[in-house]
Amino acid sequence: MTAHPDYWNAFYDDDARPGWDMARPTPVLAEALTHASAAGLAPGASVVVPGCGFGHDAAGLEAEGFLVTGLDFAPRALQGARARYGDRIIWSSADWFSPALGPWDAIFDHTCFVAMDPERRRDYVEACARHLRPGGLWMAVVFDEVQGRPGPPHAIPLETCRELALPRFEILHLARASASHPRRAGRELLMVARRRQD
Ligand SMILES: C[S@@+](CC[C@H](N)C(=O)[O-])C[C@H]1O[C@@H](n2cnc3c(N)ncnc32)[C@H](O)[C@@H]1O
Repeated sequence: MTAHPDYWNAFYDDDARPGWDMARPTPVLAEALTHASAAGLAPGASVVVPGCGFGHDAAGLEAEGFLVTGLDFAPRALQGARARYGDRIIWSSADWFSPALGPWDAIFDHTCFVAMDPERRRDYVEACARHLRPGGLWMAVVFDEVQGRPGPPHAIPLETCRELALPRFEILHLARASASHPRRAGRELLMVARRRQD
């Protein structure tokens, strides 16, 4: 069900934000960019935000000087993103599991990896590798704990995250995020990983 855009599209409404929407870029973005910058990512590089929703993280990256693509397969998410942030960002209507997208220099992934059904995670990691240039960076913000109800989101414990990424990525940083939104404090991990050369 969550593999279909209709499931997600139903959450996006002109008058209300979905429960996960923070109305601004995640505070983890700055920390991710510090690690990515140390790994050589510089303004002007191309960055894609898969599952961009209303586009706040894409806008945060654009403000830092990156060439940004916000990608989502839910049409109403992209309508809302374009209405908020205009056309200075490339808005791409596509399924992340598509065979050929990009390639980009980096991915900023915020609550997209954790939105996937667990049985699709390995394919998701393959898609991340496929859509990056060799040596490209995957920045991912994931929950390692989810309270309350069955997912999505689905928690990805640190060791699971490492095991999933390792076949295709060298992990440069994987630790608890230091500056989360108050509602998410203590539950978010930040991973910055480099795509291995083929
Ligand atoms: C939990 S929402 C997060 C949205 C945004 N990142 C945020 O934090 O506000 C997950 C988003 O991923 C999108 N999504 C899920 N599966 C996708 C896929 N296979 N391809 C493209 N987008 C997808 C959904 O449409 C939804 O907008």
